[in-house]
Amino acid sequence: MELCMSQVLNEFVSLESFGFMQDGSLLGYRLKDIEPELRCLIPRLDPSYVFEKDALSIMSAWFEIGSGEPLFISGPHGSGKTSFVNQYCARVNAPVISITARARLDRTDLIGGYVIDKDKSMRFADGPLTRAWRHGCVFLVNEMSAAPPDLWLSVNELLEGSPLYIPETGEVIHPHPRTRIVMTDNLRGLTEDYGSRYVGRFSQDPAVLDRFWKMRMDYMGEEAEVSLLEATTPELEVRGMSFEEWRKEFSVRLRRAADRVRQAYCRQTEDGAVAEATISTRVLLRFRDLLLLSYRSPAMKNEPRAALRRAMKIALTDCLEEAGALAVEKLVELEIGDIGKHIA
Ligand SMILES: Nc1ncnc2c1ncn2[C@@H]1O[C@H](COP(=O)(O)OP(=O)(O)OP(=O)(O)O)[C@@H](O)[C@H]1O
Ligand SMILES: [Mg+2]
Repeated sequence: MELCMSQVLNEFVSLESFGFMQDGSLLGYRLKDIEPELRCLIPRLDPSYVFEKDALSIMSAWFEIGSGEPLFISGPHGSGKTSFVNQYCARVNAPVISITARARLDRTDLIGGYVIDKDKSMRFADGPLTRAWRHGCVFLVNEMSAAPPDLWLSVNELLEGSPLYIPETGEVIHPHPRTRIVMTDNLRGLTEDYGSRYVGRFSQDPAVLDRFWKMRMDYMGEEAEVSLLEATTPELEVRGMSFEEWRKEFSVRLRRAADRVRQAYCRQTEDGAVAEATISTRVLLRFRDLLLLSYRSPAMKNEPRAALRRAMKIALTDCLEEAGALAVEKLVELEIGDIGKHIA
């Protein structure tokens, strides 16, 4: 059955559910209209995910008017690209089929192929892209540039929302009105990021990228990242100030430390500081958890510097040689300071 767009996006999802305490809503799907067997593909909602206004407005515009064109989200590792798509879809009730690209991925991996059934007969099994086409899912490709450009060229017609023709079976599948394609990548696509060290990536064809809406997702802005840190720091006993004051200060310092390292990684500091690894949002959250664990461990109770270095090593710097690790740890130490002394 053919459905038109206005019938498909038939639910108002409040901005409040995206963390914005203001009137307004975005369009999504009514859960009861999603076939029961697809509901398990709707990502689990993480209430602590922090949306930023710009990204949300691009995503919602694309979702509402960009049907038939794919979306390309680029940004550094751990900046929240994949989780952004999943968390958006969790709120608008969109089922998601995800894959991660790789060098040997080919069209058959996407479209499907013959498999031997239990009764030894041959049967065509849909690949992930075919399933998304047939059932109306968001097809999420992570690390797009890990696959060679000719793969995406070979599905150019699908990037335009054309019907999918399966030569093996002769079947033609028109995209379900809910079908969407989103790809994420660390590279911008056409030009390399400064200081980019991603390996095994392929430059992509401009004709392929031409078909996409583009969204850049750098590490979060200060306010958003601090509020994420605040919202996810577990309550603990502190001395000399209230827990809320301490948590705010701790979160601000963590963010400043991350910022310092990020700038040093991109060689953008005035003092010429250099970092060989950077603190993504993913690493920052891990470091915070490890730091709290170290601060509270009896062995490091009065050794805040040792506690910080141990947490940083496990979170990030043990993949660097000694001098590189020390450089990052020192930058972090400059911002974190003695905040740990308040922990009871
Ligand atoms: N805005 C955010 N709100 C809450 N958590 C976030 C946010 N951004 C990132 N994170 C945290 O960082 C982790 C990494 O995010 P994610 O996997 O989405 O990054 P990515 O940009 O896809 O990274 P990669 O390029 O390495 O695939 C998430 O699991 C989540 O814990
Ligand atoms: Mg990702």
